[in-house]
Amino acid sequence: MAEAASRGSGDNVTVQGVPERKRKPLTPDQLAVSRRQFLNRAWTATFVTFLGFFGMSSLSFLWPKLTGGFGTTITAGDAKEIMKQIGPDGGFKPLFNPEGRFWLTYYDGTGDSPVYVAVNATEVKMQALYRKCVHLGCSVPHCSKSGLFECPCHGSKYRLHGEYFGGPAPRGLDRFPVTIEGGQVVVDTGTVEVGPPRGTDTWGEFAEPKGDYCVPT
Ligand code: FES
Repeated sequence: MAEAASRGSGDNVTVQGVPERKRKPLTPDQLAVSRRQFLNRAWTATFVTFLGFFGMSSLSFLWPKLTGGFGTTITAGDAKEIMKQIGPDGGFKPLFNPEGRFWLTYYDGTGDSPVYVAVNATEVKMQALYRKCVHLGCSVPHCSKSGLFECPCHGSKYRLHGEYFGGPAPRGLDRFPVTIEGGQVVVDTGTVEVGPPRGTDTWGEFAEPKGDYCVPT
């Protein structure tokens, strides 16, 4: 009866006789609010995304580079080839490694100083000398005439094996541990061993200069 009455009055009805809910259209004010909400959310999302990218790129810039380069373990090359150049057959010519900022030099001394043990020099018969002068940090080249490393800044001089020879430097050149792995020379430039103190003299053959200096005293 009630269902029939409702149908007669023109209302929409369900089978159970419950009126359907009609959705009211939004007023212009409500529309404006929802547009503003949408824009606010879009801006917030864009800003957060930007901050995320900015943060990640800043971190990657500040994070130390650990894959290759100075401060990491560097493979310097074939041990036999290197030995041919820096050893007696090659005239004891040191080999510079720009990536690791070190000089590879032959060593056949007594190793009578803790630093030689630390860098494994007597074992592998070579060492990796940090090119940075221990006086004030200039790059130290090798002088083929004298056979010494001679600093162009204030004239400090170091023997072929990096021991102190003369000038204002407080000690011998600092150095890095060297190992031979799979026939390759491997240098750990992340570990700096402080050079031997003044007065250290472990290899008579290169205790004195072989000729004229490159940097006058
Ligand atoms: S920086 Fe090398 S002697 Fe001063």
